[in-house]
Formats: sequence, structure tokens, C-alpha cells
Amino acid sequence: MRIDLMGRRALVSGSSQGIGLAIATELARAGATVVVNGRAQEKTEAAAAAVRAEVPEAEVQAVAADLASADGAASLKEEVGDLDILVNNLGIFESRPVLEIDDDEWRRYFEVNVLSAVRLIRMYLPGMMERGFGRVMNIASDSAVVTPLEMVHYGVTKTALLAVTRGYAKAAAGTGVTVNSVMAGPTHTPGVEDFVGELVGDDKPWDEAQSQFMKEHRPYSLIQRLIEPAEIGNLVVYLSSTQASATTGGALRVDGGYIDSILP
Ligand SMILES: NC(=O)c1ccc[n+]([C@@H]2O[C@H](COP(=O)([O-])OP(=O)(O)OC[C@H]3O[C@@H](n4cnc5c(N)ncnc54)[C@H](OP(=O)(O)O)[C@@H]3O)[C@@H](O)[C@H]2O)c1
Repeated sequence: MRIDLMGRRALVSGSSQGIGLAIATELARAGATVVVNGRAQEKTEAAAAAVRAEVPEAEVQAVAADLASADGAASLKEEVGDLDILVNNLGIFESRPVLEIDDDEWRRYFEVNVLSAVRLIRMYLPGMMERGFGRVMNIASDSAVVTPLEMVHYGVTKTALLAVTRGYAKAAAGTGVTVNSVMAGPTHTPGVEDFVGELVGDDKPWDEAQSQFMKEHRPYSLIQRLIEPAEIGNLVVYLSSTQASATTGGALRVDGGYIDSILP
């Protein structure tokens, strides 16, 4: 199977670092024109430069916009125009004792992790349906199905994204547009590297720290290492392709086998 995304225009929300940046890079590598996004202009432009450094022929646009707000989403739409591929990657997470999460924090998580995706889908899905092709991917997490006690609010928003996905896939039925969730597992991002250091000690070589972290804190992972961000990007590239035309309305796992389940 040769995947070619030439001629496709993609947006990855929250892609100035981490998994989003890796997704943008892999989409560009497959030939798509890519829009990268974050809240700060300079950091977003640096991310676009990082994609070009990795894929010299890439066409990349940097658009700074705060997608936690309706105004931010509207300003992004004005700059970006039509899209063939929408990757709702933006998501925030932080440990918080569940009994201390107040109404404002619950609202903030819903606004950033769920409503930001819903807004962009509402903006871009009708055009995709009219043109008879489109790919929407919502980046969920193992936390969507295994609610983490240390961040219940985060898990709840990721569970909601699976339902959002199913709902909009139904809305796009029969149009050539697919809508899927991608459930990422524990991934090797700078934030997670710090988290590993905090748990197992930051004086160890990375391989040893990672291995101890997986054994002690992620024993269910079948790959017994963190997932590299590009591995999430690879699944997104496949789902973005014409070859993935019969996969819609579902939740696909790129979790290193972390979720102890035979479905989905
Ligand atoms: N890391 C993991 O192990 C893991 C596992 C499973 C799922 N996931 C999911 O994967 C996605 C990416 O995670 P990550 O770890 O790569 O995240 P990250 O490193 O924290 O990056 C978040 C990105 O979003 C941007 N951002 C934050 N708030 C924004 C806003 N209001 N509007 C626009 N952009 C905003 C940030 O840039 P600025 O700060 O410059 O705005 C940054 O580029 C999330 O949905 C997360 O839930 C992550």
C-alpha cells in the first residue's frame, strides 16, 4: 500500500509540540499541505520550521489561534480556508485529586478537550461533505476507556470524544467523509519524559528510566516502552488516506497494547 496525500490540505490543532507536531510532520511526509497551530505565533512558526527541517519539500502554514474559544476558532477558519483533513489533537491534562476538581475546572476541560473539536468539526464537516471527501480524526486516549483516578476530568473528556466521533460519523453517512477517534497510549513527549523522571528519579539514563517506569507504572503495556509520537502520526496518515475509506465511526488504538481488552 502506497499512501499519497498530495493535493490534500490538513489542519492539526495544538501542533506546536508533542504528538501534534509529529502528526503534522508525518502528514507532510506523505505529501499533504499542513497547517500547524498553537496559541503563540513564534512557537507555532518554529513548529512549521521544524516540519520543513524534517521534510524539506513540505508546504506548511503556521496559524496561531486559541482554539479554546469560539473567536479563536473563527479567526483560524478565516486564515486557513477549506480543509480535506482535520485532526483534533488539542488536549490538556494534569493530575488533580478528583474531589478537588471544581465546576470551573470541569468546564475548562470540556471547553478545551471537547468543545474545541466539536467547533472545528461543525466548521469543516459541511464543506467536506459537499465535496465528497474528508477525514476527521479526534485524538483520544487510553484514558477514554480506563478512567485514570489522578485525572478523572481528563478521562471523561476523552470518553466524550469517542461519542462525539460516532455522532458526527453518523452525520456524514454516505458522503465519502470519515470520522474516527485515535486512542493514543503512553507516549514519549517532553512532558511525559519529565513525568517519568519524577516517578523513577531523573539521575538514570533514559533507557533505564523508561524501562523501570513501564515495569512499575505501566505493566499492562505490551510493547513495554513509550510510544514514539511518529507512531501515532502513522495511524493518522493511514486514516487520512483514500485507502481507509471503509473505516469510520470507530475508535482505533495506537496504545502499545496498553488497554487490556480485545475490543475494539
Ligand atoms: N502525551 C501522551 O502520553 C498522550 C497519551 C494519550 C493521548 N494524548 C493526547 O494527545 C494529544 C496531544 O498531547 P501532547 O502530550 O502532545 O500535548 P502537549 O505536549 O501538551 O501539547 C499541546 C499542544 O497544544 C497547544 N495548545 C494548548 N492549548 C491550546 C489552545 N487553547 N489552543 C491552541 N493550541 C493549544 C500547545 O501549544 P501552546 O501551549 O503553544 O498553545 C501544544 O502545541 C492530546 O489530545 C492528549 O490528550 C497524549
